[in-house]
Amino acid sequence: MRIIKIFDTTLRDGEQCPGATMNVDEKLQIARQLARLNVDIIEAGFPITSQGDFEAVKRVADEVRGVTVCGLARAVDKDIDRVAEAVKNAESGRIHIVIATSDIHLKYKLKMDRAAVLAMSVKAVRHARKYTDDIEFSAEDATRSDWDYLCRVTEDVIKAGATTVNIPDTVGYTVPQEYSELIEYLMNKVPNIDKAVISIHCHNDLGQAVANSTAAILKGAGQVECTINGIGERAGNTALEEVVMTLKTRPKYFDADTRINTREIYKTSKMVSRITGIAVQPNKAIIGDNAFAHESGIHQDGILKERSTYEILNPEEIGISKSKLILGKHSGRHAFKDRLTTLGYQSLTEEEINKAFERFKALSDQKKHIFDEDIEFIVTNEIITLKESDGFSLSSLHVVSGTEQRPLAKIKLSIKGERREMESTGDGPVDAVYNAIKELTGTKSELKKYEIKGITGGTDALGDVVVMLEEDGRVVRASASDPDIIVASAKAYINALNKLAGICRTVEKGV
Ligand code: KIV
Ligand code: ZN
Repeated sequence: MRIIKIFDTTLRDGEQCPGATMNVDEKLQIARQLARLNVDIIEAGFPITSQGDFEAVKRVADEVRGVTVCGLARAVDKDIDRVAEAVKNAESGRIHIVIATSDIHLKYKLKMDRAAVLAMSVKAVRHARKYTDDIEFSAEDATRSDWDYLCRVTEDVIKAGATTVNIPDTVGYTVPQEYSELIEYLMNKVPNIDKAVISIHCHNDLGQAVANSTAAILKGAGQVECTINGIGERAGNTALEEVVMTLKTRPKYFDADTRINTREIYKTSKMVSRITGIAVQPNKAIIGDNAFAHESGIHQDGILKERSTYEILNPEEIGISKSKLILGKHSGRHAFKDRLTTLGYQSLTEEEINKAFERFKALSDQKKHIFDEDIEFIVTNEIITLKESDGFSLSSLHVVSGTEQRPLAKIKLSIKGERREMESTGDGPVDAVYNAIKELTGTKSELKKYEIKGITGGTDALGDVVVMLEEDGRVVRASASDPDIIVASAKAYINALNKLAGICRTVEKGV
């Protein structure tokens, strides 16, 4: 059976999803989890775009072992040099070079002709060869490129030393039959194709990304580029969990598998969703809340008689425990720690686990049932908090509202360790709180989105708030949960402000 390499680009293309910006520590946390998931390659960023991206790729390369670490570069020396510098301490480092090959990109974006792009591609690969033997070349917008020109570029970059050639469907334009024909065409027409791995990278603009990827695997593609939860530019990328589980579920059909430790999928999905603030839709394949929920009576009856009647996947294979209601008042520290690991919190210190356990015990005195979401709330809101000296944090909040008076908020914040307080009114209690925070922090950001939902059942449910802020063209998304929805709103806003404060992009992302 062929083994297909999994090239995870959650930290690069995934981060290009509006609002998904991650700081260096967050990227490192995800990279460590991706290594546990056993991906073959982690694309950790686009180092030339900012100091933050450079540092993220460097830290992942310096600290994460057992995986190839890769950075993206345009086909120019300064980008390539920057990637080489960032990945130089990796156990195994890769330079990924991209340049567009479609006439539409050549004419309007690059303003170059085909011969010039070909020459530039070859020159870039030769330059990268000075640093490493592991070079990936991407022909951006390959699916709208002339097929024979694409063959020529592929042949020449392989001659120059590219060991992986990626055929991206950059704008999510192709369909499975056509994409598989293109891969087959390259396999048959490029004389030295056996000297490189053919990679695929699909965007989901028409909802075809996973189908296109699996169709291309059938024709010999040996690497698939994908992201956790399918996040990425616009409609996103091929979802790692979907393509991996498709191969795993249909081994005879594909005669191909991956090295992924599928039991880590659910944790990884949870971690990425928590860090980026991008929720997973309930009906999302493999990891959505409803992926294993059976509503219809006929289906339930079938499942009870024989699981395989209506379930083609075993939830435990992707790391989902049988029951969602997992812990209660009498649960011990061991079970609690185990649950934290399942939820993707592997990197907590013993002290943090003890603190979280104490909070869990206190909460189980207040709430009858403790759900995964409650535990996530404890960890994200009370354990993994910024050190006071790092940014903004909520010290206290008092809100008065009702039918008789204009809502009034009194708020105390710690701003880089200094206590400040403010009173403000608003059209509603959240508005009053946000007005006070705005004044106290002096932020110029604009609130683009505010969403609130109850995340566990009942009136004692936690309220989960997601906010999206925009400042100088940068968009960040953050979330927070609390049994008090006004407190959750304040915390989500403050988390987003902290994210904005931690970003230092100098060059716009994207190619
Ligand atoms: O979509 C795309 O073409 C890309 C390349 C950088 C591979 O993300
Ligand atoms: Zn892409």
